[in-house]
Amino acid sequence: MRRVTESGIYAAAPDGTHPARLSENTMRLLVIASLIAMGAACSGGEPAPAPAPAPEAPPAPPAPVVAPAAAPVDLSTLDDAGKLAALQKIGEAVYSTGGNGGIACTTCHQPTGEGTPPAFPPLKGQKDWMGTCVHHAGLVVHGLTGEIEVGGVKYNGVMPAQGNLSDLEIAGVITFERTSWGNDFGPCFPEDVAKARTEPAPKGK
Ligand code: HEC
Repeated sequence: MRRVTESGIYAAAPDGTHPARLSENTMRLLVIASLIAMGAACSGGEPAPAPAPAPEAPPAPPAPVVAPAAAPVDLSTLDDAGKLAALQKIGEAVYSTGGNGGIACTTCHQPTGEGTPPAFPPLKGQKDWMGTCVHHAGLVVHGLTGEIEVGGVKYNGVMPAQGNLSDLEIAGVITFERTSWGNDFGPCFPEDVAKARTEPAPKGK
C-alpha cells in the first residue's frame, strides 16, 4: 500500500531525468499559457478590467466679474466726467474683488445690488440708508450693526468695517453703488471718506 502510494506520488517523475524534462515542459507550458493570456488581453477574449474612472475634477471657479483693482488715479487732474468715470472704475473693482484688503461687497450685496433679504440688504434704490456721502462712507469705514429696515424688510446683521481700504477706494465703491443698478445719487470723494473716519460709527435705526 505504501509503495503504491509512493509510486502514485512519484508517478510524474519515475526516473532521475524526468524532473528536469518535466520542469522544461512545465516552463514551455507556462510560456505558451502566458502567450495565450497576452493574446487574449490584446485581442478580445476576456476584456481587460477598465481603469477606475478618475475622480471628478472640481468645477472651475467662476471667472471674476471684473478685472483686477484699478490703479490709483490723481482725481485733481480730471474734469467732473473724468472723476466720475475714474471713481466708478475703481469702485466696480472694489465692489467685486474687495480691493486692497476689503471684502468683496458683491459676496453679500450681490452683483445686482439686490442683496439677499433678509440676511443682506439691497443697495439698489436705498437712498435713505446711503444718506449723505459722509454717512455712506461711514458705513464702509466703521461697518454697521443693529436693526435696520430696508424696503419693508428688517435686517439685523453685521456689515464688516472696511476702513483699511483707502479713501480713494471707499469713495470709488460708494460712488459705484450710488450710480449703479438705476441708482442716480451722484459721486462721493476721498475728502468725504476722510471726514467719515473722524466721525462716530453710524447706528442702525
Ligand atoms: C459679510 C457681508 C457683507 C459684506 C462683505 C458687505 N456688507 Fe454691506 N451690509 C451687510 C449687512 C449685514 C448690512 C446690514 C447691517 C445691519 O443689519 O445693521 C449691510 C449694510 C450695508 C449698507 C447700508 C444698508 C443699505 O441698504 O444701504 C451699505 C451702504 C453697505 N452695506 C455697503 C457695503 C459696501 C460698499 C461693501 C463693500 C466694501 C459691503 N457693504 C460689504 C453685509 C455686508
